[in-house]
Amino acid sequence: MASSSTTYRGKWNSGETTVVRVPRRLAPEILRHAHRLDEASAGAGLEETAAIYRTASDIPPMEPVNVASVPQRSPFRYPGGKTWLVPYIRSWLGSRRGNVSMLVEPFAGGGIVGLTAGLEQLADHVILVESDPDVGAVWQAILGGHSEWLARRIAEFDLTRESAVEMLGREPTSLRERAFATILRNRVQRGGIMARGAGLVKSGENGRGLRSRWYPETLARRIRDIARIRHRLSFVPGDGVGTIRAHADVPDAAFFVDPPYTVAARRLYREWHVDHRELLRLLSQVQGDVLLTYDHTREVVGLAEEFGFEFEPVAMKNTHHARMTELLIGKDLSWLRRNDSVEQPRMKRGDGRKGGDRL
Ligand SMILES: C[S@@+](CC[C@H](N)C(=O)[O-])C[C@H]1O[C@@H](n2cnc3c(N)ncnc32)[C@H](O)[C@@H]1O
Repeated sequence: MASSSTTYRGKWNSGETTVVRVPRRLAPEILRHAHRLDEASAGAGLEETAAIYRTASDIPPMEPVNVASVPQRSPFRYPGGKTWLVPYIRSWLGSRRGNVSMLVEPFAGGGIVGLTAGLEQLADHVILVESDPDVGAVWQAILGGHSEWLARRIAEFDLTRESAVEMLGREPTSLRERAFATILRNRVQRGGIMARGAGLVKSGENGRGLRSRWYPETLARRIRDIARIRHRLSFVPGDGVGTIRAHADVPDAAFFVDPPYTVAARRLYREWHVDHRELLRLLSQVQGDVLLTYDHTREVVGLAEEFGFEFEPVAMKNTHHARMTELLIGKDLSWLRRNDSVEQPRMKRGDGRKGGDRL
């Protein structure tokens, strides 16, 4: 007897299959979603699988996203990381109905957006760009054939204050050693700040001290999951602006842009200087779609207006759990407003704050 695509077990990761009847016209689209869900949730529980389909329309207006409901895929705990934005990313890329040939993330950092897009098949291919060479070493090691070594090195490392200090004081002699030291540094230095010599975590969560953010098995699993889809991921070391230029003429490309902007950027990132006006000018001219995320300040609103972008504030919580708004900027944000009947707060004129102050 011939096997159909629904009964042939080898095609699905999640286990036993069943037969469902759906309108013929919708079948290809439904099958595409099913495969996406199957691939992204292999080995996950029901709760986690449901989280994979949470999009912007599941979030009440002006409610910050609960990050605990978003699968964390990055080995980094990144300062300014955008895990909370993931449901919005699904809505944005999903609105393009599988028509994103490449997602370019020119300021990748911990890369949560690109990793989510790769694992959930929201784009055919993902290009991560990062100019910090330590952060870049992690992406190069994982995508360049050292993922298993790195996963094991993490799983087997006996973390003590002495072993961490000794490891971080050494000059790495290979790319993969540098990748390991970067992940260790990111996990044991306060706030995930990766500047060399920043202070180590002291008491940490639950009195676990230095180990409070060191989850060896989880980190090893994330690294192996990323390596599993390495055919859909590329890493480019260096300046993200150059990579935007290189793909400016690709009509079905999408650019997710999260540059270092905050006043704190200088302290948080080794690479922090970006010409924001030039960046927005360039992005206003690319053929593909664009989504930027910035602090919600008067200065940024002015730049978005100058280059004819749409912009919307969305609610978020910062690392200290304070509620604030972040600004999403794009050529067309209709996907964001579709199910949103509540008026979002807009910047008021003359409220006395300086251009760079958060609104
Ligand atoms: C706000 S963080 C990105 C965080 C990321 N979206 C996440 O969720 O993890 C900005 C990143 O851009 C990097 N960066 C700064 N200037 C850059 C440049 N010219 N090209 C590429 N990356 C750059 C910084 O090192 C930092 O990792």
